[in-house]
Amino acid sequence: MDSPQVARTLVDSAGGTAAHTREAIRQIGVPETAAFLADELAGRTETVTIRHAAEVQFVFDDRYAPDAADPVPWTFRVGPEGVTHRAGALPDPGAVVTQDLTELARSLYGPAADRSDATRTVWWRDHDDPRVYFDPPPVFPAVERLLAAADGRDVPGLAGLALRHGSDKWGIHTYTAAYEQHFAPFRDRAVTVVEIGVGGYDDPAAGGGSLRMWKRYFRRGLVYGVDIADKSRHREPRVHTVVADQSDPASLRDLADAIGPIDIVIDDGSHISAHVVTAFSTLFPRLNPGGLYVVEDLQTSYWPAFQGAYDDDTRTSVGFLKRLVDGLHHAEYPSRAGRPAQPTDRTVGSLHFHPNLAFVEKRANSGHGGISRLREAT
Ligand SMILES: C[S@@+](CC[C@H](N)C(=O)[O-])C[C@H]1O[C@@H](n2cnc3c(N)ncnc32)[C@H](O)[C@@H]1O
Repeated sequence: MDSPQVARTLVDSAGGTAAHTREAIRQIGVPETAAFLADELAGRTETVTIRHAAEVQFVFDDRYAPDAADPVPWTFRVGPEGVTHRAGALPDPGAVVTQDLTELARSLYGPAADRSDATRTVWWRDHDDPRVYFDPPPVFPAVERLLAAADGRDVPGLAGLALRHGSDKWGIHTYTAAYEQHFAPFRDRAVTVVEIGVGGYDDPAAGGGSLRMWKRYFRRGLVYGVDIADKSRHREPRVHTVVADQSDPASLRDLADAIGPIDIVIDDGSHISAHVVTAFSTLFPRLNPGGLYVVEDLQTSYWPAFQGAYDDDTRTSVGFLKRLVDGLHHAEYPSRAGRPAQPTDRTVGSLHFHPNLAFVEKRANSGHGGISRLREAT
């Protein structure tokens, strides 16, 4: 199984019963699943309160499975500079956390309401020495941070994540509040997110900040970064990259065929109006009902350097989006208006504009909720 398949299998199974999750772990493999969860745990562990580094042994336990495999130990080093992790046990651990692999997979990737820590045990080397409660050793807060990550108790906001992962969505731009407003209903869902524009342009090592930010924000999400340049160095569990040109419909269709149904598209690519329109026209039909299509940096719609213009030209990205507003009311036109039907008339459910940023919701719009029967009389 490749990495996106492992992620999809784990997330989907965690949305079902514990038996589904156990079966998925069998397909992926116990050590492979433990490695995947170790990476996830490390990525979700917040270290701002950590002053001194400490190592913790985490044992992924399979004993509740009918055909139990050996427990898999991993070592986490939690320090002020972040978290590193490696396979294997510590010779003389200060703390050992043990938890059932299936339960942990469900806590990390299942709906928040299904989280559990019933199988977890924590062993402390200094547990019997009362002095440690007045002067805790560094391993205490290290364990506490790891468990907060496992239990979803640390839920950072998007502005903080943009700063941490180096996305300009908060800083040069101020998009994060609008994103939180529209993405909140998706945060606990097993979403597929596609962002056009990984960042860093021709430098294969540069960029990727927003992909890591979305991965952390959508804890059950699978994130695809699309760029005209090869950005495969930014691949990691739950983050995949694809080379495609947003001005080329065939390239985008291939991409959508490979990914399958999409919940969210974010266009932060070339920002050239014709490319924005091409990408929207090709990928919006591939969105799931209820999905969102986001276009960033709409200021470029007015800038000649991006083939933009100030007038109401439908070839500019803002001009194109304004026409979608007309489509929202497609059922209200008098028959004499002669407006040709557009493919998006019945599939755009709502539009939300913020400065330089637009959200287009995919939802059936038959127009029957309106007062269209009065139209011929006006
Ligand atoms: C503004 S950066 C993306 C920043 C990133 N999304 C973030 O928030 O950190 C734009 C990226 O779009 C890519 N790009 C430019 N033209 C493109 C095209 N026609 N198709 C796909 N990607 C393109 C560039 O290579 C560049 O890496």
